[in-house]
Amino acid sequence: MGYYDGKVVIVTGGAKGIGSGITRGFAAVGARVAALDIDEEAGQAIEAEGADLAGEIAFYNADVAADEACRSTVAQITDAWGTVDVLCNNVGIQPVPSYKLAHELPLEMWDRIIDVNLKSFFLMARHCLPHMMKQEKGVIINTASVQGLQSAGMVSAYAASKGGALSLTRQLALDYAKYGIRVLAVNPGGIQTPLVDEVIEAFGLEREQFFKDYAKLHPIGRYGQPADIANAMVFLASDKASFMTGENVCVDGGLMAKGAWAEIEE
Ligand SMILES: NC(=O)c1ccc[n+]([C@@H]2O[C@H](COP(=O)([O-])OP(=O)(O)OC[C@H]3O[C@@H](n4cnc5c(N)ncnc54)[C@H](O)[C@@H]3O)[C@@H](O)[C@H]2O)c1
Repeated sequence: MGYYDGKVVIVTGGAKGIGSGITRGFAAVGARVAALDIDEEAGQAIEAEGADLAGEIAFYNADVAADEACRSTVAQITDAWGTVDVLCNNVGIQPVPSYKLAHELPLEMWDRIIDVNLKSFFLMARHCLPHMMKQEKGVIINTASVQGLQSAGMVSAYAASKGGALSLTRQLALDYAKYGIRVLAVNPGGIQTPLVDEVIEAFGLEREQFFKDYAKLHPIGRYGQPADIANAMVFLASDKASFMTGENVCVDGGLMAKGAWAEIEE
């Protein structure tokens, strides 16, 4: 028996990368997990994985940047499973063509990144919160980024979306604490996912060398895996974290602890 038995968890961008890790992580401890994604093939694959886990996984094909898709998908999930206990707003894009100085970034690119990475968090929250308020309990966990805290080059829309996610986390935590709802954010460091594969491919980087170099950037000496983020979220969404809200937690192998001047001994 898992300690999430019967709980209903929604994960956006839940079919691949960090989202697939979160989907598996909650299903492994007994939850019924709805994985929302636009990748039909990956969605079918993650749903099938549920058969070997303590809980279950249902895939919903939904573009969570669109309000109607969020509304109707949350309605389908709550019709089927009764409520929603945990919402993991995980979806995020950082398209390679968006690596530009701000004055060269096409407006449509800015809009799409903000719509997927930030607006979807608001939309999903707004459709899940009434269910959580009704049961006077619920947890929302937003996947932000270390890039919400410090800056990398040439990613203005992504950086703004992640800063916005952290701010939205604090705001919702404040407004909904009285309804028994906790809201938290997780800031991943470098995590091995298809998003990172896309960058490696687009910039023609040598894969093994890339991961070796990036592992060294993290004081803990390795690159992260989706399960690292999932493990933190399974804890944060549980009653063991019942005094935590409005906070953001770095799961980054010590990346944010390191000053720009720090030398890491090998
Ligand atoms: N990978 C990292 O190193 C890293 C670091 C910090 C933060 N993050 C954040 O973690 C989250 C997950 O990133 P990832 O690396 O797993 O990305 P990924 O590209 O590997 O996976 C993202 C998933 O979201 C889905 N998706 C994309 N647009 C969607 C939409 N409109 N509606 C529904 N689903 C959609 C994709 O199909 C995919 O399954 C993002 O918010 C990202 O910004 C990632």
